[in-house]
Amino acid sequence: MAAAETGRRPHIPVLLRPLLAAVAPVSGVWLDGTFGAGGYARGLLEAGADRVIGVDRDPLALEMAQDWAGAYGDRLRLVAGTFSQLDVHAGEPLDGVVLDLGVSSMQLDQADRGFSFQKDGPLDMRMSQQGESAADLVNEASEETLADILYHYGEERASRRIARAIVEARAAGPITRTLHLAQIVARCLPRPKPGQIHPATRSFQAIRIAVNAEFSELVEGLEAAERALKPGGRLAVVTFHSLEDRIVKRFLQLRSGGEGQGNRYAPETRAEAARFTLPLRRAISPDEAELADNPRARSARLRVGVRTDAPAGPVDPQALGMPLIPKKGRR
Ligand SMILES: C[S@@+](CC[C@H](N)C(=O)[O-])C[C@H]1O[C@@H](n2cnc3c(N)ncnc32)[C@H](O)[C@@H]1O
Repeated sequence: MAAAETGRRPHIPVLLRPLLAAVAPVSGVWLDGTFGAGGYARGLLEAGADRVIGVDRDPLALEMAQDWAGAYGDRLRLVAGTFSQLDVHAGEPLDGVVLDLGVSSMQLDQADRGFSFQKDGPLDMRMSQQGESAADLVNEASEETLADILYHYGEERASRRIARAIVEARAAGPITRTLHLAQIVARCLPRPKPGQIHPATRSFQAIRIAVNAEFSELVEGLEAAERALKPGGRLAVVTFHSLEDRIVKRFLQLRSGGEGQGNRYAPETRAEAARFTLPLRRAISPDEAELADNPRARSARLRVGVRTDAPAGPVDPQALGMPLIPKKGRR
């Protein structure tokens, strides 16, 4: 069982050492857009950042930092908000931006946050504790929309079967608990063999992504980082699944002049000045020592870009491969 699921250990920062090495030397003002338990923010402060702005949309994450954040005085400023607005939260040009995407162990471990398919809790999954919950989505979305969410955000091949089962189950009364949803999903899929993931893994990921609008947050967060970073400023992003990683990879490829490359027929007008350079040849994964310590890090990937002085601009989400779900409304 992953450390994140045992509830015995606090959040272990993933890929922190390789991240600090990839962005070294660290100085000036950094923004940590996914503050969580503060592992990255602390790492940056210890590595030489003059100041860190820590942003998290989960008010509980910032509350839990109150015990230790004061020790850094005005070197650490905490902001409740989303990283899609990180340039506004910063209010000043930045030397670096770090994003460590997804949920924290703290969020997963607390059954009452409703993220875990292994602990019974209310079907919530809202990082910010505001807006539409997973229960609202599961009980109100049309069967077609549910199937699209499961397929596009969870890469769940049994999406239609699961959506049908959800709609049948909710006809008997609302689905309000995590384990109830996990059972509905599990009944649609073959029993997992030893070593295989829990059958509800992909569905829970998909619903969490939809509830928290994680893909549009990511695309807007990358655009905001491009606006906020000084020339020479570093952007480091850690992803946890292939859909996120594809968005970050394509963003950095496109913004470093990757579009049209390798195609001599590409129209010249498409060649825009590179907004980032790429110091790493490929994404960094956790090494064996890190995996032994934290098996949850298995799918993590780190990508880094260095900002140039080319003007920032909007990005087309579709060019980044962001899955778009047509709006089909409620049942
Ligand atoms: C994987 S944890 C980060 C852990 C952190 N790097 C550490 O070492 O403790 C992700 C955190 O980002 C937050 N988060 C996720 N999406 C966000 C968004 N769009 N804006 C702000 N915070 C977000 C979550 O609430 C969670 O606390």
